[in-house]
Amino acid sequence: MDTVYLNGEYLPRDEARVAADDRGFLLSDGIYEVTPAYGGRFFRGDRHLARMARGLAALRIEYDTGGLPAIKQRLLEVNGLAAADFAYVYMQVTRGTAPRTHYFPAHAVEPTVYAYARPHQRPPTATWERGYRAITAPDRRWARVDIKSIALLPNVLAMQSAVDAGVDDVILVRDGVAIEGAHSNFFAVSGGGLVTHPATHQILHGITREYVLELAAGLGIPVELRPLAVEELASASEAFLTGTTTEVHPIVEIDGRPVGDGKVGPVAKRLTEAFREGLPGAA
Ligand code: PDD
Repeated sequence: MDTVYLNGEYLPRDEARVAADDRGFLLSDGIYEVTPAYGGRFFRGDRHLARMARGLAALRIEYDTGGLPAIKQRLLEVNGLAAADFAYVYMQVTRGTAPRTHYFPAHAVEPTVYAYARPHQRPPTATWERGYRAITAPDRRWARVDIKSIALLPNVLAMQSAVDAGVDDVILVRDGVAIEGAHSNFFAVSGGGLVTHPATHQILHGITREYVLELAAGLGIPVELRPLAVEELASASEAFLTGTTTEVHPIVEIDGRPVGDGKVGPVAKRLTEAFREGLPGAA
């Protein structure tokens, strides 16, 4: 059932082996992408692919992404996920295997390409209706988080702080600004409009974020792309996260204080409905 792709081969997950000197393993020298599929149909797959190509170019890893859509499709099929309600394909490309240096390998090496498909539970309705409780944590990531690098240690530590605190998620804060989640983008409803961080080097340019902004425009919801001060959250009426595995998920409490009236609000509701209506296979 669990067949993965590694460097041109499809093989059982427990037979997939990567060299110990892979630069991904030693140096986190690589990028990744997570593409959702609803009922076996990829959603905005072209955008995920384009983001991966941009990341590869930024890191100067030479790899032609042209074959990736077929690999992603085949992974769904061989894993019996071609009709799954929701699944995603994880895909990672590292610079390849070479003696460890702080610069690129002197001789061309083949990138290491690893991918797998996995069924995933969409956020349960009961959790969505209750809304997430979140905490804030310092954003300790590097200055180019628009590149979807596999170096996720600051994200892992921040998310673990949420687990340790017994809450659902975490919002990363830098210089007093609510930047994004550890694995999702962050939105608030403040001053009557939707506010989210502009697509600078300081956030991942989420494909779901982009989609939600399109939906907001279509619904006539005013949007402001600007840094959102953490203090402003005290007067925000709503907050939510967006992401491939998160979809649109309301947050009703931040650092122990209710957001707005502490209930899921109308903007999150409307955008979630519109989000679902736009998915592949939606009626
Ligand atoms: N995370 N911000 C960060 C830091 C992320 O890691 C992600 C995605 C997002 C949302 O991007 P998108 O809408 O394109 O999924 C924002 C993926 C799902 C992950 O790490 O598993």
